[in-house]
Amino acid sequence: MTAPGKPDRAAWIQGPSARCNPPPGRADAPWRLVLLGAPGVGKGTQADLLHQRLNACHLSTGDVFRAAGGRAECDQSPAIKAALQYMKRGDLVPDSIVWEMLLERSGCLRCGGGFLLDGFPRTLAQAESLKHLMENQRLYLTAVLNYRLPLNEVVARLSGRRTCQNCKAVYHITERPPKTADSCDRCGANLFQREDDRPESIKVRLETYEKSTAPLIEFYQRLGILVTIAANGTPEEICERTVTALEDWRERNSAREHA
Ligand code: AP5
Repeated sequence: MTAPGKPDRAAWIQGPSARCNPPPGRADAPWRLVLLGAPGVGKGTQADLLHQRLNACHLSTGDVFRAAGGRAECDQSPAIKAALQYMKRGDLVPDSIVWEMLLERSGCLRCGGGFLLDGFPRTLAQAESLKHLMENQRLYLTAVLNYRLPLNEVVARLSGRRTCQNCKAVYHITERPPKTADSCDRCGANLFQREDDRPESIKVRLETYEKSTAPLIEFYQRLGILVTIAANGTPEEICERTVTALEDWRERNSAREHA
């Protein structure tokens, strides 16, 4: 069961032998974006909204691991089993496992509609590897969106999150509740709380973000492609803010993009 009208991202979620339904479109100037920001800041929510505005495909590394974890245990590779243990604690999955998964899906980086990378890169090593991979394929990031929000609001967003077990649509129990309690507006399936949204894992995730992922802000600032966005307000307001900032960004940097 797939939510109506929403691409199933099969090539990303299941791997390169799967075909996306509907197939991705082609854009004259595809947006190739990375979404940075603390866990729970709203990257996934924005990726969903930005997909509707920019057409670029939402590529979330967390979604790939969670989908693999949902398969029967006998179908899970040792690497996936290990990854799920790291995730449950709130720790990062080792770079080698993440990179192997990303390389297998590198065709998605050439998607004609562009992409919204959510949750990758998360360490400097991952950022360097992505840069080299893209340069080798003559692909360049349009920009890196850095979403910012005070810590207490981030924790409130994570603690109240509920996710659809089927189509992965994201809700919040007070800020973005479903029309019917515990049931997805899009496909009717049940909602659940992610294991890593429990208080002990949230603490580890936020510490890990500060230590391993926050340094990427400086990395992309030095490359001159960082666009910082305030993540307060409603998701729609933040999306509007993002699209305006991106259009402005593209206008000011069109020479660089076509270089
Ligand atoms: P991942 O799935 O990437 O999770 P994350 O980065 O921790 O981000 P989240 O999905 O928790 O939050 P989000 O920013 O997308 O917020 P959301 O939109 O859902 O990674 C999970 C784990 O996988 C990692 O911990 C790690 O173990 C592993 N992993 C993945 N990639 C990896 C990598 N590259 N390297 C190593 N390990 C990796 O919103 C949160 C809540 O807020 C929702 O309830 C939403 O409804 C609500 N909300 C959103 N916007 C608003 C708003 N404007 N106002 C009010 N509420 C809002």
